[in-house]
Amino acid sequence: MRILLGVSSGIAIYKAVDLVSRLRKKGYELKIVMTPNATKLLSPVVFSSVGNCPVFIDPFEVKDGWIPHTELSRWADVLVIAPATADTIAKIATGRADNLLTLVALAFNRASKVIVPTMNDRMYGNPITQRNLITLKDNGWLVLEPEEGFLACGDWGKGRYPDNEVIEEAIHMVTWEKPLKGYKILVTAGPTREHLDPVRFISNVSSGKMGYALAKVAKRLGGHVCLISGPVSLSPPPFLDEFVKVISAEEMKREVLKRYENMDVIVMNAAVADYRPSTYSKSKIKKDMESFSLSLVRNPDILKELGKKKDNKVLVGFSAETENFEENAWEKLKEKNLDVVVVNDVRRTAGSDTAEVVILTKEGDKKRVGPYDKEVIAFHVFDTVVNILRRSHGEDR
Ligand code: CTP
Repeated sequence: MRILLGVSSGIAIYKAVDLVSRLRKKGYELKIVMTPNATKLLSPVVFSSVGNCPVFIDPFEVKDGWIPHTELSRWADVLVIAPATADTIAKIATGRADNLLTLVALAFNRASKVIVPTMNDRMYGNPITQRNLITLKDNGWLVLEPEEGFLACGDWGKGRYPDNEVIEEAIHMVTWEKPLKGYKILVTAGPTREHLDPVRFISNVSSGKMGYALAKVAKRLGGHVCLISGPVSLSPPPFLDEFVKVISAEEMKREVLKRYENMDVIVMNAAVADYRPSTYSKSKIKKDMESFSLSLVRNPDILKELGKKKDNKVLVGFSAETENFEENAWEKLKEKNLDVVVVNDVRRTAGSDTAEVVILTKEGDKKRVGPYDKEVIAFHVFDTVVNILRRSHGEDR
């Protein structure tokens, strides 16, 4: 993918250098356009060296008929402007084209364009800037919201450059096809914790990485996505429509059931604890006994309950195994009335960024995927889901 990064003269410009470094490491083809004012803050040499790519500034540097603004806007698959100052935003919103970046923006006619406003909070909150941003949204730009926090001017407010991870995700959002558009997807992730007192619990090794990757990818594919997550140390993926935090299996069941009717696809990736302590002590249990035995009771099987309702939902389960992988997974698929089951060797995948899985479907299909990054695995899972949706709803949605 060819990314054209436009850089204007926000103080957050130094953060765009890290963006360039990240994009280069991911192997994207990069070219950069800087406004003349941006070059007063940071030398083009920094961007050129970090990105190992050309930096363009002057619209009049026409060589052998190569006209920078038309050629660059034709070359790029995606245009990202980060940081975007209030002035650059105003110019693009009103169709002005007085430097190479605004010329390129005017000439770029694809839907894949992302803009990252960063400025003082009063400038950002000014109705004129807000109106300009609405104009950009109406013209197909994905406008990222600045973060709130300490600003370079010493004020506290909304205007900060977001995490580069969010910008990277925005690039996926504007470039991926949207086969899940119009579908509501519920994903569960992470472990559950079953407390025996306020400070102690039983749980499992799930890191939540697979579930978070699934939610991210569902969003990139255009779904309306709700992620219900047990306790994990990950930040919620950007652009989700709903994010719900839970602790116990009972809580997860409640939150899933509340939304079930409204959903088209439910992906139960959470490693729900099968048992919980039979009693809960409101105060911390003291170590005044020589030995301590813990009595456990069965937790509800959320997915099995969903399978009993089923309706016309697509149900996807995960099968965490350490042996007899496929045999156990086929059984779970039947027992829980699922459409898809994803089998993995939990000893190898828990906590890791990669996984190797087998995707089984009700129709008896079997697909081995990986070892790949969990986002790639997530894509294959939704590829299977999209095929099922197409078969049951036709191509017309
Ligand atoms: N699951 C669930 N509620 C539970 C346990 C599991 O909804 N109480 C879901 C998981 O989210 C997963 C699927 O059921 O999608 C299979 O989970 P897994 O732990 O592999 O199997 P179990 O059904 O718990 O059976 P076992 O632990 O005996 O392998």
